[in-house]
Amino acid sequence: MSGRLVIAIDGPSAAGKGTLAKRLAAHFGLPHLDTGLLYRAVGVKADRLGQPPEEVAAGLQPADLLGPDLRTDVAGQLASKVAVLTQVRDNLLNFQKKFASQESGAVLDGRDVGTVICPDAPVKLFVTASADARADRRYQELRGRGVDTIKPRVLAEMAERDRRDSERAAAPLIAAPDAFLLDTSDMDADAAFAAALAFIARKGFRSSGP
Ligand code: DC
Repeated sequence: MSGRLVIAIDGPSAAGKGTLAKRLAAHFGLPHLDTGLLYRAVGVKADRLGQPPEEVAAGLQPADLLGPDLRTDVAGQLASKVAVLTQVRDNLLNFQKKFASQESGAVLDGRDVGTVICPDAPVKLFVTASADARADRRYQELRGRGVDTIKPRVLAEMAERDRRDSERAAAPLIAAPDAFLLDTSDMDADAAFAAALAFIARKGFRSSGP
């Protein structure tokens, strides 16, 4: 390996970044942070307690990151809404930066990892896919979990969230200029993993494991 490996993964919802981040973290033996979970926890807790999201973000506890309700689409929308608030983002920044600066290296995925959290990360991936492919995956996932929905609704909600995440003034969803663009529209998880590994190897990093 050449130096400390920090992998920054960004992209819109349902592009496959979470799956990819977990696989890369396991492959390289690195800790992984799903930064979206922080925003989900803030959105859900602020909504439940009727407290200002800025205060919730400042006092976020590990226990707030647990619970199946954080994975719902409602939580995703709540997260996207509190994520436009600069003070919320600032209050979550130190924790994320500290996670990224661990001696071991790290994998982080989200919307602003390569641009704001770790602008110096040696490996940046921007994972995307067509809106149709992403909505299809999300629809299949929801149906698999027994959620009763229709694809046009999934597509509309996803588009609304992506627009808010991309158009906000504070740390919008955008590819870092030095990010590797991975379009997974026609790829399964294995192909996306292989493409990411090939890019990471070109950057001089290989797993020391089996
Ligand atoms: O990745 P996710 O779907 O769990 O993210 C939920 C929301 O959180 C997303 O719509 C925008 C916000 N978010 C963000 O603004 N910055 C990040 N680094 C991660 C997520």
